[in-house]
Amino acid sequence: MKLTVFSAHKFEQAALEATAKIHKVELNLLPVLLNKGTLALANGSEVISLFVNDDASAEVLEGLYEIGVRAILLRSAGYNHVDLKKAKELGLFVANVPEYSPYAVAEHAVALMMTLNRKIIKAHNRVNEGNFALDGLTGFDFHGKTVGIIGMGKIGKKVANIMIGMGCEVLAVDPVINPLYEQIGIRYVTLIELLKYSDIISLHAPLTLDNKHIINEQSLSLMKDGVMLINTSRGALVDTKAVIKGLKSKKIAYLGLDVYEEEKGLFFEDHSDEILQDDDIARLITFPNVIITSHQAFLTHTALKNIADTTFDNLECYRKGEGCKNKLA
Ligand code: NAI
Repeated sequence: MKLTVFSAHKFEQAALEATAKIHKVELNLLPVLLNKGTLALANGSEVISLFVNDDASAEVLEGLYEIGVRAILLRSAGYNHVDLKKAKELGLFVANVPEYSPYAVAEHAVALMMTLNRKIIKAHNRVNEGNFALDGLTGFDFHGKTVGIIGMGKIGKKVANIMIGMGCEVLAVDPVINPLYEQIGIRYVTLIELLKYSDIISLHAPLTLDNKHIINEQSLSLMKDGVMLINTSRGALVDTKAVIKGLKSKKIAYLGLDVYEEEKGLFFEDHSDEILQDDDIARLITFPNVIITSHQAFLTHTALKNIADTTFDNLECYRKGEGCKNKLA
């Protein structure tokens, strides 16, 4: 069987190739994003694999179906880029990798918090230039601070554990309340309470139709002055223009983003020789209290191996026609 892999990156190649060998699958690794213009590259593959920024909208799914694609293996937990309703209508098999390393993402969220707070990048740049002065590098103790986590699922819980370990109070917003989490000190509150009382707010909810721009001008107005905002979940949870205003007014004192609402076509690629066309990200980069990483929170060796293993397990389910616990459609 041939598996066409869209958005195949160098960093995942070794893990995919090693696992494909075990499963006796021929790989067709394509470095391009799936969209209307590239879908024909899947010709001859009954099964394809997609990453987070591939376009699996209704129109693209119909095109894939016409050329014989019958199964889509997502190498991601998030599936907001796939029109599942259309996939079901067409009878396409779609499966994701619901968990590959919640630790990887949680640790990256905390890395952003720490780096912002202790101004590590500025300090490192100074020392590299022979400047050993400390003025302007003062941070705060995390101990005693209140951390608000929006989305207390697998990743949110890991962030909560780390922050509790550092002596923080943890507030959570989630439509599903887990009483066991309350036993370890996580306090479920309303969104308004979380926004009002948190020193640090970290987003770990999936992107849905209901929570697009959950961080907007109105929610920002409720936050403490000098709040730290971290988003390692999905870019569109945050209204970028509102956040730029919040940075200019100093409402937001620290911003850490691993995801960006307009990241498609920008993140994961080298654009260093080009003129940046996106004015919002260009503005964000100019703030000294903003750190942006290019959707790399998941990027650990453990996660890459787990992604490859689960992707091929999902393929086996499809091949054997067995029930698949990761099946979305
Ligand atoms: P999960 O499904 O275990 O947890 C998500 C939680 O959010 C659930 O408890 C759910 O009830 C809650 N939730 C849903 N809607 C909500 C809302 N409007 N407000 C508050 N809570 C809400 O998912 P997991 O594994 O923790 O992942 C969370 C998200 O992290 C994924 O959906 C994905 O978008 C993102 N992610 C980012 C990665 C990266 O590399 N930056 C890698 C992996 C995931």
